[in-house]
Amino acid sequence: MSYTMRDVAKEAGVSVATVSRIINGKGEASPETIAKVKKVIERLNYKPNMLAKSLSERKSNLIALLIPTLNNPFFPELVREIETEANKNGYQIYLCNSDDQRSKVEYYLDSMVNHYVSGAIINSLHVDEKDLSLLEERGIRTITIDRANFEHSYSAITVDHKAGAQDAVTYLIQDNQCKNIVFISGPKGEKSAIDRLLGYKLSLKQLESPIQTKIVYGDFGMESGYQLIRKLLKDGETFDGIFSSNDAMAIGAIRACYEFGIQIPEQVKIVGYDNINMTSYLHPRLSTVDQCKTEVGALAIKELMNLFNNGNEKPNHYELKPKLIIRESS
Ligand code: RIB
Repeated sequence: MSYTMRDVAKEAGVSVATVSRIINGKGEASPETIAKVKKVIERLNYKPNMLAKSLSERKSNLIALLIPTLNNPFFPELVREIETEANKNGYQIYLCNSDDQRSKVEYYLDSMVNHYVSGAIINSLHVDEKDLSLLEERGIRTITIDRANFEHSYSAITVDHKAGAQDAVTYLIQDNQCKNIVFISGPKGEKSAIDRLLGYKLSLKQLESPIQTKIVYGDFGMESGYQLIRKLLKDGETFDGIFSSNDAMAIGAIRACYEFGIQIPEQVKIVGYDNINMTSYLHPRLSTVDQCKTEVGALAIKELMNLFNNGNEKPNHYELKPKLIIRESS
C-alpha cells in the first residue's frame, strides 16, 4: 500500500504543511516534531509523490534534452553521457527527439514548460534565440550544445570541428600520401557539417602539393554515404582517400567500397568523424575524430548546475578540441 503525505501527518499528529516543510527542508519545525515525523515516514515507508511535488512547486527534477534524431548512434551515446552526469546531481533526463523538424521542436518546447522542467539542454539549429528566451522567462535555465552557435546570449558548449577536420585531412595527405581525396560532407545547412567543410578546405590550402579533391553532400546517414560512394565508383571515379563528415556515412562508404572489391586501407584510406562506439568493432576498425562526448556531457550538466545555484551574469562559451583516432582503415 502506498501512503500519502496526509497519512503521515495524521499518524504523526501534525499538519500536512508541517510534513511538507520537513520533507523539503524548508521553514521551521522543532527537533522533536522532525524526529516524530521522520519515524512515521520510515514506518509507513512513505515515498513523496514527485509529480504532486512538481505541480505544487511548479518545478521538477527533470532536465529536458532536445536532440536532432535518435537514428544516428552519435546522439544516444551523447545522451547517455549527459544522463550519467544528470543522475549524479539528482536530476533525470526528459528526452525530446525533434527528428530535425521545427514542428517537433515547437511541440517539445511547449512540453518542457508543461512538465515544469528545471533546465533545458538544446541541440538543434531549428531553435532560435526567441525560443531560448521564452524558456528562460519561465524559469527554465537553458544552454545549447553541439549544433549551437555563440551568437546568442546563452551558455554554449561546442567542439572545434574546423580543427578536427583539418587534422583528419592533413593526416590523409601527409601521413598516408593520399593524392585524390573524396570529402563526404554532411548537410549544407548544418553548422557542424559547414565547420568540417571549412576545416577540409583549410587543410588543402595549407599544403603545397595540389591534391585532386571531390566534395559530395550526404545527410549524415549511413545510406547517403553508401549511395554517394557507390555512384562515384559506378561512374568510374578513382580516389585513394575518403574523409567523411561523420562515422555513419563513413560506414556506408566502406560498404560501397567492399561491394566494388576495393581494399581498405590498401587501395583507399578512410577517416570518419564522431568516434561512435561501433567504429572500434568494424573490420577494418575505422579511423575517426573523437568528439569528447564524455567531456561535453559533464560540462553541460556542470554549467546547468552553476545556473541553478548561482545564476549567471554572462553566458559561458566552451569550444572543446576533438582528437584524431587512428585505426586500421587508414
Ligand atoms: O553524426 C551526426 C553529427 O551531427 C555529429 O557529427 C554531431 O556533431 C551532430 O552535429
